[in-house]
Amino acid sequence: MNTTDDASGSPSPVPLGIWPTPVEPLPRLAAALGLGGHDLLIKRDDLTGLGGGGNKVRKLEWTVGAALADGADTLVTTGAPQSNHARLTAAAAARLGLRSVLVFPGTGSGSQSGNLVLDGLLGARVVWSGASGRAALDAAATAVCARLEEEGARPALIPFGGSSAVGALGYVRCGEELMDQVPDLDTAVVALGSGATMAGLVASLGPDRVIGVDTGALGDPTPVVAAFVADLLPEPVRPERLRIRGDQIGSGYGTLTEGVKSALTVTARTEGIILDPVYTGRAIAGLMAAVRDGDIRPGRTTVFVHTGGLPGLFGHPDAVAYGENSVISGL
Ligand SMILES: Cc1ncc(COP(=O)(O)O)c(C=O)c1O
Repeated sequence: MNTTDDASGSPSPVPLGIWPTPVEPLPRLAAALGLGGHDLLIKRDDLTGLGGGGNKVRKLEWTVGAALADGADTLVTTGAPQSNHARLTAAAAARLGLRSVLVFPGTGSGSQSGNLVLDGLLGARVVWSGASGRAALDAAATAVCARLEEEGARPALIPFGGSSAVGALGYVRCGEELMDQVPDLDTAVVALGSGATMAGLVASLGPDRVIGVDTGALGDPTPVVAAFVADLLPEPVRPERLRIRGDQIGSGYGTLTEGVKSALTVTARTEGIILDPVYTGRAIAGLMAAVRDGDIRPGRTTVFVHTGGLPGLFGHPDAVAYGENSVISGL
């Protein structure tokens, strides 16, 4: 790994979250999916504490730790307008007394809802870069950092989605928590976006025990996850050993598929657990598909890693239509 944060050469995290996150049983969801009552558990990484919670807090402890070691006073990052990572970068900056700048694609002409409301509340400066595509967005963020330096600031560029080998260390820790909390864990299921969450879990739990459900955030996530894992372990894991399901993307990142709709409603109505339409909804839809095709079997212990993202539900043009179903007249 090529980022080091202290004189010893080892990265060191800055505390931002509440650990360990709880693990709870999901007996009613398990029954609805055709699993036994004790077969399905949830790791509540939606309850990580900072800024509305979610998986990005674990990664930010490490990436922001590295930024502080470099003397940064401003955190700059990129993402989609409804990025949970951008919101939590702004929250980390607020917690630590730093400034935050969020560089988004496009012009910001859409609805300023969901995560964007929280970005503003947290005091982030939002730059609508006009960029379309990842390379242009990265270039826009580099230009923003250069401008901030000219103004006398000390910016640190936090990677897209918080994903780097350093950020993945947060999920190595999560895997270690899981081994303590669920010693008989057979399979952990998690949403796969920019890749470091799955990579950290694979590094600690091994490739056979982790299913990543691709959300379509990257063109081909397999080499990306494999590269992060290779940075974390002395021996690389062959990419073909990674268990990545690509069956829940539908017509693209962020689209509300029938599988996601069903995952959102069944999880809410059996367990009172709220998923988001982009990441965790896809992860449960992938878990349901894995039960159907025998990749996840009754009698084994499966853990769904809830990675947060609730604000995205309120920023999604189709998902907010769920509220219409709750209008009840004259019971
Ligand atoms: C709520 C949520 N879950 C899961 C993920 C995926 O994590 P990663 O980007 O590390 O693959 C993201 C990424 O944006 C997210 O916001």
